[in-house]
Amino acid sequence: MPKLLDGKAVRDRILTELRPRLDRIRESGGRPPGLAVVLVGADPASEIYVRNKVKTCQELGIFSEKLTPPATSTTEEILAIVAGLAARPEIDGILVQSPLPHPIDERRILLSLPPGKDVDGFHPYNVGQLVANNPAPRACTPAGVMELLRRNEINPSGKKAVVIGRSDIVGKPMAMLLLHAHATVTICHSRTSNLEAECRQADILVAAIGRPGFVRRNFVKPGAVVVDVGINRLATREAAAAVFAGNAEKLAEFDKKGSLIVGDAHPLELEHAAAVTPVPGGVGPLTIAMLLANTVALAEQHLGL
Ligand code: GUN
Repeated sequence: MPKLLDGKAVRDRILTELRPRLDRIRESGGRPPGLAVVLVGADPASEIYVRNKVKTCQELGIFSEKLTPPATSTTEEILAIVAGLAARPEIDGILVQSPLPHPIDERRILLSLPPGKDVDGFHPYNVGQLVANNPAPRACTPAGVMELLRRNEINPSGKKAVVIGRSDIVGKPMAMLLLHAHATVTICHSRTSNLEAECRQADILVAAIGRPGFVRRNFVKPGAVVVDVGINRLATREAAAAVFAGNAEKLAEFDKKGSLIVGDAHPLELEHAAAVTPVPGGVGPLTIAMLLANTVALAEQHLGL
């Protein structure tokens, strides 16, 4: 059976390492780091993420502020909110939760963020810094995956890495970070021909497509490391049965809870992998840890530490 890469343990270590840095900031700056989260509308998944972000900030003594303009907000209204946060010195990081409701212009909002407060690393300036391998905030989920690999002594150097998914939030920055760690990187997506064969080449396979159980047995080379970024809720019995066909235990769990969470990798078919990240409890906890790490790093910069 594959080794399970425990994201909660790595998260706890990252957060513990932030504590002395937070103490130093408080002693020298007279104020804690500040994070503002803008959640437009009421997407239920986003609400859960944002609640967890705010809660973890509180636990660490990071000031956090949640702004929840309605889904009917205009682009101009969101731009005004971001401009207000940009002007406040006690706010070190600004996060605008993605996806934004239609028809808000996400590109304009991102461009309006001051790059020095872009805690997600999504502003094109910071994307350029990523490509150039210069210091700047890095997208939290891919940065968390790199921490998970490093702290489990999985070195991408010289390995073949395949990333499934080309999103701005995960796929593209993930590929770039693996490249900077000296992997040979392939990015696959919905138009890739022979996806299964491409994936089977991978020593490190990262799945970030948002399709439950998509990565099946034949996608995975024996001994590969599988990093599962997907968090998918199976909310109907049909969906649960499609992934867990014939698995009475899992289907009973569905009947009890009314839904199941699965990743992009098939939860029952990767016995031949060397290591996998569980869902939940793998990559998910690291995204928040890296968000806080980015917030602390920005505060250190703003306070000249
Ligand atoms: N939506 C899903 N993940 C993220 C993230 O890391 N940052 C933001 N801003 N939105 C997201």
